Amino acid sequence: HRTLRVALLGAGSVGSQVARLLLEHGDDFAERSGASLELAGILVRDPDAPRDVELPRELLTTDAESLIVGADIVIELMGGIEPARTHILTALNSGADVVTGNKALLATHGAEIFDAADQVGASVSYEAAVAGAIPIIRPLKDSLAGDRIARIFGIVNGSTNFILDKMDREGLSAEEAQAIATDLGYLEADPTLDLEGHDAAQKAAILASLAFHTRVSMDDVHREGIENVTADMIEGARRAGFVIKLLAVCERLAGSADDEAISVRVYPALISREHPLASVHGGNNAVFVEAEAAGPLMFYGAGAGGVQTASAVLGDVVSAARRHIAGGVGVGESPRQSLPTAPIGRIMTRY
Ligand code: NDP
Ligand code: HSE
Repeated sequence: HRTLRVALLGAGSVGSQVARLLLEHGDDFAERSGASLELAGILVRDPDAPRDVELPRELLTTDAESLIVGADIVIELMGGIEPARTHILTALNSGADVVTGNKALLATHGAEIFDAADQVGASVSYEAAVAGAIPIIRPLKDSLAGDRIARIFGIVNGSTNFILDKMDREGLSAEEAQAIATDLGYLEADPTLDLEGHDAAQKAAILASLAFHTRVSMDDVHREGIENVTADMIEGARRAGFVIKLLAVCERLAGSADDEAISVRVYPALISREHPLASVHGGNNAVFVEAEAAGPLMFYGAGAGGVQTASAVLGDVVSAARRHIAGGVGVGESPRQSLPTAPIGRIMTRY
């Protein structure tokens, strides 16, 4: 087997699990990808900080440049815009394939990153960026590439679903539920990203871009979070036969004056207790896709959590390794890795 050097940026909720699984299941990865994956190092802020997952001290480093340059695959799980953006660009320009779960970065600087990847013929994969462990990016990019998608809707944020669910089913306050979600590693480092709906809007922008073959950015998404949802509202909804869920909806506005218009929005919605979305509990997510030929499809599973999300990251790592040893573009991946750039007629907000 050829050996590929893997650099991991970040050892938090997700990164620490990715490191553990890479170290524990190295033989499986070698068999599946055709290459031995050597974890060359792990970038952290503080190598001596206590960690829930024990990692070999000699792998932890604060020297980003030395770790990234010379790596064949760079896994970015730091989160945030900088220095994640700079590190990913450095990785691409030094010939590495990149795997990331960073929806905040892709929904704001996706064009720059995918253009850089296209220029050097490298790949950027991001299955973990939307809906945690659920395979949804590859189905949209590849499996459904021959269909026309009319609508995607569902629950794409695990922590807010967990909080609303705990309030509804156990009568916890928002603060109590948030504390448990934090312990489970569901929340972003800045929890307002989840609570105010930014995280769901970033994911909706990525889903809409892929579904409608156009560039949708954060600014195009109508956004309301759950910060104003009170225990009284949840109780009132329950008495009326509803549950409150933070919904993401991306749809073509067929029948509108402009048939090419789309609408992308995130908001807390009343869902009938009979609807399958009402049964999405805890940190789970569910994404419904309505395609012209395929009809309705449903994707369901863990939308957040370190080890669950590590599954999606490692799937991308195995694909990147296969691609890398086969010499680049065209191996089990569409040649252009990027989110689409073509403009669509119009982006509209619909309530
Ligand atoms: P954490 O905040 O738990 O971990 C971040 C890690 O990155 C830490 O190890 C931290 O180092 C390191 N880091 C952050 N900034 C720097 C820096 N400037 N220099 C060096 N190291 C740095 O994040 P998560 O694991 O929760 O999330 C990682 C990514 O995955 C994010 O983009 C997130 O959106 C995404 N994601 C998260 C999911 C989840 O359920 N948690 C699910 C799906 C996607 P140190 O340990 O020293 O502090
Ligand atoms: N903070 C995110 C969530 C993590 O709660 O869904 C998964 O992307």
